[in-house]
Amino acid sequence: MTDQARNEVEQLRSQLEEHNYRYYVLDAPSIPDAEYDRLMRRLQELEAQHPDLQSPNSPSQRVGAPPLDHFATVQHRTPMLSLDNAFSDEDLADFDRRLHDRLKLNPESAIDYVAEPKLDGVAVSLTYADGELITASTRGDGVSGEDITVNIRTLASVPLRLRQPPWPALMEVRGEVYMPQAGFERYNAQAREQGGKVFANPRNAAAGSLRQLDSRMTAQRPLALYAYAIGFVEGRLDCETHFAMLQRLKSWGFPVNAKVRQVRGLSACLDYYRALEAERDSLGYDIDGIVYKVDNLQQQVQLGFVSRAPRWAIARKFPAQEQITRLLDVEFQVGRTGAITPVARLEPVQVAGVTVSNATLHNKDEIARLGIAIGDRVIVRRAGDVIPQVIGSAEPAADSLRQPIIFPSECPVCQSPLEQIEGEAAVRCTGGLICAAQRKESIWHFASRKAMDIDGLGEKLIDQLVDLGLVDNVADLYALQLEQLAGLERMAEKSATNLLQAIENSKQTTLPRFIYALGIREVGEATAKNLALHFGDLPPLMDASAEGLLAVPDVGPVVAAHIADFFANPGNRERVDRLIAQGIQWPAVQRAANLPLQGMTLVLTGSLESMTREEAAAKLEAMGAKVAGSVSAKTSLVIAGPGAGSKLAKAEALGIEVLDEPGLLRLLEQGL
Ligand code: IVH
Repeated sequence: MTDQARNEVEQLRSQLEEHNYRYYVLDAPSIPDAEYDRLMRRLQELEAQHPDLQSPNSPSQRVGAPPLDHFATVQHRTPMLSLDNAFSDEDLADFDRRLHDRLKLNPESAIDYVAEPKLDGVAVSLTYADGELITASTRGDGVSGEDITVNIRTLASVPLRLRQPPWPALMEVRGEVYMPQAGFERYNAQAREQGGKVFANPRNAAAGSLRQLDSRMTAQRPLALYAYAIGFVEGRLDCETHFAMLQRLKSWGFPVNAKVRQVRGLSACLDYYRALEAERDSLGYDIDGIVYKVDNLQQQVQLGFVSRAPRWAIARKFPAQEQITRLLDVEFQVGRTGAITPVARLEPVQVAGVTVSNATLHNKDEIARLGIAIGDRVIVRRAGDVIPQVIGSAEPAADSLRQPIIFPSECPVCQSPLEQIEGEAAVRCTGGLICAAQRKESIWHFASRKAMDIDGLGEKLIDQLVDLGLVDNVADLYALQLEQLAGLERMAEKSATNLLQAIENSKQTTLPRFIYALGIREVGEATAKNLALHFGDLPPLMDASAEGLLAVPDVGPVVAAHIADFFANPGNRERVDRLIAQGIQWPAVQRAANLPLQGMTLVLTGSLESMTREEAAAKLEAMGAKVAGSVSAKTSLVIAGPGAGSKLAKAEALGIEVLDEPGLLRLLEQGL
């Protein structure tokens, strides 16, 4: 019996490790999450039944271990070094010139480098003995660091056992633990809502999460690893280049950053810098520069070290994502759902290549947490496509110049009372659609591209329409007349005609778009789609109870209550009825059951001849597929027309099936 259990446990562990590798290293998972969860549950069950089969490097241990009372100290076998910095093209050219001199190379000959994103996280050293993770530590002072092994074991992207022997009997793998931007934003949003600890940036979040004495807390944080070097190694590695060594790390199961490139000579290094800088905002994780490393390992040995940095590598820094500027004022904006958002007006400052003069302060509690006042110098952060935020105080102004930020006691737009629901961070205007700000926001949302897509109905125009009393709510849009529009500021007859045409065109829509356009709290595009698929039409959704709504994928009690409340409001129902009476319509929705492309995620790229990409996406979605904007680990199929670029390349690199237009037409006709 135990032998049988032992075999099954070993098989489950290998399977789970293989799936982890496919997911985190190859970015190409081969099983759905539910199947992974099933294997994991079976492993946990067997380990619980047979305690003698438990092992610290079992995939089941990623949930964390009992808390520690302190971190032990670990000596690094090889010191963890730092890097010299280059702040300009000239600095990098100097570096390249120095290397030519030291290596006694002809100035005309090009040095081979590897260029890598400089990840903005926490450096870690992972020690493997006979292919098993035995210790993980922080950098510390470079000579010794803190033992964070139990915490590191909770990171799904860290291999607990290596795959593909041979491997050195003992080695230290070096890498960076980081928190992806999306995970960071989600974590902070939740912390802000629940009064937990908010982190200033993903690096602090990664550091704070790794320094938890309770590894079960670390397990909850969205941390990931990229490996970029090997420290100590017993015996020889048998690699001639750094790049080959990175490939070796990959084959052992370590995630290596996909942007790493071999580049020849200074000018290719500079090109890489420009290219990566342009991509910086869309990477999904913070980088603070580029590390250039001499690729040839023999040349690295020849170059050696100065004090605590290698001569063969340099960090070219990007413009900082955090800057200090003065807080000039705070204004309070009223959102579509009435939430009052304090917005900081700042002395304009360049942050990572963009001029920032406004930044969000999130909510009332955040102002108190930051402890800032008007006149202070504050720290602003801008990263990725997230709106800039004030993340802290840099220097308070002199008392005589400091003005406290006073949160309004009534709605700044309609003067209705404000309310704060117990357990929620947002303070809201209770005016509902009485409030001109909420009316304007709801019209703007209704007309937006992903909702009813009314081209030409922008913010300024909505302001005028509402302020002049021409439009009170979204249903009034469909009663607008040419004469009314033509009289408005900056509105010639031609644009008025175009706008009316756009309003008319918006009547042919889809059910998910219409549901999304209604602006029900917390009903985003994805939820709107799920609701449409589940109910198939509007009337059953309008009459659904909160319990009935809970049966819809991704709808929890809070969202269910928002939806039920929305349709319980007679004003809302009347508006919906009027919209439909004015001719808004959509094609029948195929219900969720047994759609041919159910569960598949597709990406469209390049151009198509027989239809637009949007039309193709709509058809594929009607067959149950999810159509995504970028190729990732979760993509099942890529459809590429002429002109396809990086998405096609990524699909090919990941080994994802690619269809051309005839293939797409076959798919639409026959399913899979
Ligand atoms: S190599 C001997 N590669 O930068 C060279 N470091 O300032 C050791 N870092 O402590 C570092 N991304 O935390 C290297 N691709 C990368 C890196 C990287 C981020 C960090 C690392 C190190 C610091 C040095």
